[in-house]
Formats: sequence, structure tokens, C-alpha cells
Amino acid sequence: MQTATGHDLVDFQVHLSDAPSHNIDHPVKIDVDNVDFWYGRKQALKDVSLQIFEREVTAFIGPSGCGKTTLLRCLNRSNDPDIVPGTRLTGTISLDGEDIYAPDADPTALRRRFGWVAQKPNPFPWSVYANVAYGPRIHGMVYGREQTDEIVETCLHRVGLWDEVKDRLKTPGTDLSGGQQQRLCVARAIAADPEVILMDEPASALDPLATARLEQLIDELRTHYTIIIITHNMQQAARVSQRVAVFHLGSLVEEGDAEHIFVNPQHELTQAYVTGRFG
Ligand SMILES: Nc1ncnc2c1ncn2[C@@H]1O[C@H](COP(=O)(O)OP(=O)(O)O)[C@@H](O)[C@H]1O
Ligand SMILES: [Mg+2]
Repeated sequence: MQTATGHDLVDFQVHLSDAPSHNIDHPVKIDVDNVDFWYGRKQALKDVSLQIFEREVTAFIGPSGCGKTTLLRCLNRSNDPDIVPGTRLTGTISLDGEDIYAPDADPTALRRRFGWVAQKPNPFPWSVYANVAYGPRIHGMVYGREQTDEIVETCLHRVGLWDEVKDRLKTPGTDLSGGQQQRLCVARAIAADPEVILMDEPASALDPLATARLEQLIDELRTHYTIIIITHNMQQAARVSQRVAVFHLGSLVEEGDAEHIFVNPQHELTQAYVTGRFG
């Protein structure tokens, strides 16, 4: 069948239904398919299948010990047996359609496509400048002082820190306030030009004001990056995420649009968890 503009309509439809897209603006970035994961004999993930969409914030929620961090670390192969001895993963995880655990996949190249923001702000014990310049320097992305200056300034601007630190770029990053340190860690992560930013309870050590500032930043960053955030704070998940995945005892209980999960959860466990009845 041909459309008025001459495009082949049938082909177009087949293409659309084949593409596992959430929608055209937010195609699948990461596809987790039937993943089981073990630490030695302890199984930490059970048959998890989940899609992460590009340039959206996905929140992983669920009680402590349900496998959220484990899955996050599997996404950038930080749970490989050479890093955490005795681990084993089955199933597939693909990034932009490519199996990241394929025998010929390069874990180092893969990890460069991810940024990581930890629970506690963990700037290097160096200057603010050196923290941000670190990634671009070790990856050979910058040549000379001028280019480095530029990337440092751009990244500090992007996390809303430039005006606060531009006169003390030589100050140790660890001298900043907790909230500033966490934004510095985000600047350090994005300076290496990742595609996906993984955040494991990034606001858990911050006061309410610094938390609000970080949430605003996460919302701004999603225009450029695919973001996954683990949080124990349901209000935070509701504020920052477009998609939510709910875990319980290593299994994915439910996933969907944030609005759907918070307003109209299908699963009893989700209802109990989002309303604070347990967790
Ligand atoms: N390095 C490890 N070795 C053995 N067991 C682990 C390790 N890390 C986590 N676990 C176990 O795996 C399960 C899931 O942990 P985790 O992914 O950290 O949960 P969450 O982030 O949801 O709190 C827990 O039972 C935890 O004790
Ligand atoms: Mg965790």
C-alpha cells in the first residue's frame, strides 16, 4: 500500500511494530531480557525483563536488598566476575540493540558510555577543576589547557555550580558543601561524555534544599542523557521520574509510566510499597 506521499505504508507499519519503542522520541536505550544473577550461590535477580528508554528518568524502587543496586551494576558490567568474584549472569542486556555481554563486547569501552553517581558524594581529594577534568584527560578527549578549561566550565555550568565555584576552582572538591559535592560528582560524570547516568540513591546524604537542587538538575539532564535513579523516597521518584520499576526479593514486580505506578498501581506489593505500608 502506498501513501499519498509515496511511502510504503505496510513497510512503515511493520517497522513500527517491530521496533520495541516506547515512542519515537524515547526509543529503547537498554533492554534487559530474562536476567538472572547470582553472587556465588545466592540469587539476587530473578528473571528480570525491563526496558529503559532514551532521555527519560527511570526510577528503581523497592525495599532494601531487593536487587536494585545489583541490576544497576549489571548494566555497566560492574558486577563482572573479575570485579566481584563468583558472580554469574544469564539472560541478555543490550544497549542500543547490542548485547553487552556478547563474547566480543569490550567492557572498558562499554563502561565509558555510563556515568555513575554514588550514594555519598565522593569527589577525588583534588581541586574542583581536577575533578571535572579527570575523565576528559584520561580518555584523551582534551588537548591542552584551553580545551580543558572549556569543558570544565561547560560541565560546571550544566550542573549549576559554575557561579558558586568559579572563584575557587583550585579548592579541594571535598571542601564544598554536601550538595555542591554531589553536583560536582555529576559534573565529573558528564565531563566524560556518557550516554547513560546511573545514580544509586544520590540524595540520601543530602539535606532537603540540596536534594531539591539535585532533583532539578536531574530533570534538566534528561534532555541529554538517559538516567536511572535508585531512590527510597517515593515523593522523589514521583517528582523526577517518567518511568518506574518496582522490585521485590530480586524480581521485578511492576514497571510502567510513573503516573500509572503512583496513581494506579496494579500489583498489591506496589500499592503497599508506594503508600508506605511496607519497605
Ligand atoms: N557483593 C555481594 N556479595 C554477595 N551478596 C551481595 C553482594 N551485593 C549484594 N548482595 C546481596 O544481593 C541482594 C541484593 O542486594 P542489592 O542489589 O544491594 O539490593 P538493593 O540495592 O535493592 O538494596 C541482597 O540480598 C544483598 O545482600
Ligand atoms: Mg542498593
